[in-house]
Amino acid sequence: MEEKPVRLDPWASAVKLEYDKLFRYFGIKPFQEVLPRVSQVFGDPLHLMRRGVIFGHRDYDKILEAYKSGERVALVTGFMPSGKFHFGHKMVADQIIYYQKLGFEIFIVIADAEAYAVRKLDRKKVIEIGLYEYVANLIALGLEKNKHTHIYFQTNYEKPYYRLIQMFSRKITMAEMEAIYGDLEPGKVVAALTQAADILHPQLEYFGGFKYVVVPVGADQDPHIRFTRDIADRFENELGLRRPASTYHRFQTGLDGNKMSSSRPDYTIFLSDPVDVAVRKLKRALTGGRATVEEQRRLGGVPENCTIYEFYVYHLLQDDRELARIYSECKEGRLLCGPDKQYAAELLAKFLEEHQRRLEKARDRVLDYVEPPEF
Ligand code: TRP
Repeated sequence: MEEKPVRLDPWASAVKLEYDKLFRYFGIKPFQEVLPRVSQVFGDPLHLMRRGVIFGHRDYDKILEAYKSGERVALVTGFMPSGKFHFGHKMVADQIIYYQKLGFEIFIVIADAEAYAVRKLDRKKVIEIGLYEYVANLIALGLEKNKHTHIYFQTNYEKPYYRLIQMFSRKITMAEMEAIYGDLEPGKVVAALTQAADILHPQLEYFGGFKYVVVPVGADQDPHIRFTRDIADRFENELGLRRPASTYHRFQTGLDGNKMSSSRPDYTIFLSDPVDVAVRKLKRALTGGRATVEEQRRLGGVPENCTIYEFYVYHLLQDDRELARIYSECKEGRLLCGPDKQYAAELLAKFLEEHQRRLEKARDRVLDYVEPPEF
């Protein structure tokens, strides 16, 4: 009988083909190319970097060089407070905390203006969710409070930030915006200018003066990054603004293989889900298993198409060797989906139990971190 060699490559699934387009069409660079330098400059890369979940970047080499030579560096990222905090959001939190530990200045924006004007969400709810879901989960995951960490709501910040939004409007045309965003409406125009101010304001004198900025986001946010980089160029002379760098991560797949999103709660695990609810969702998840046990033993599973395996890669396993072991046992047909799900469920339950203990305490502390808008 012919023996098929099993290739052990736990991270092959990390960069899917569709992401290639971003490289070809938009000039995003593969993150893999800067990974060795990350190890040299930062030490251990984040698991999301090692495993190719963070797959692309713009100008990241500049961040590395700035950090290396002791220049000031900052991270800016934002959350749309549209629903409960889920594991897709945790991925961003992990990155924020990684950079905070490296000593980056941290700017986290709760995009309540965008949620109101573009998503048309109820303001009161958005503020509640911003505080008790997003800020609370960030704290519970380990975000420290220090003088280099700033969390703000878009509708409740400092004057010079709003001045930027107004000034930016002068040096951009509708045609340019439409080329980037497609059909626009006033709410979207304001949201885009606001996001540009989110990303660029840390460089102003008022906010401590020039610093290199990196923006870790999902690939869907790249239009904002390109827009912001154009604006930075046009305000280089007037305000001393420089282009931000960015990184792009893959989206976590929903448990049915489609999108993970707050609006699809059956296929999305929230960090506040009761443990039994979360485990039940996980146990129903789509795997890369075969139709029958016999087939799976013979052909092996397909971890590349498995939402459970993805959970290990993104969240549940820190140890790369353990991950590689599961990958190969699945590939070789030695690990079946039942026991594998059981193992994932145990890891998930353990994580959630500890996290939710911290979350409860964190909810009492959100106002130490951020001032909510009064209406
Ligand atoms: N538009 C982002 C989202 O939909 C939220 C956001 C607002 C943001 N300002 C930002 C993200 C600045 C990164 C940087 O999730």
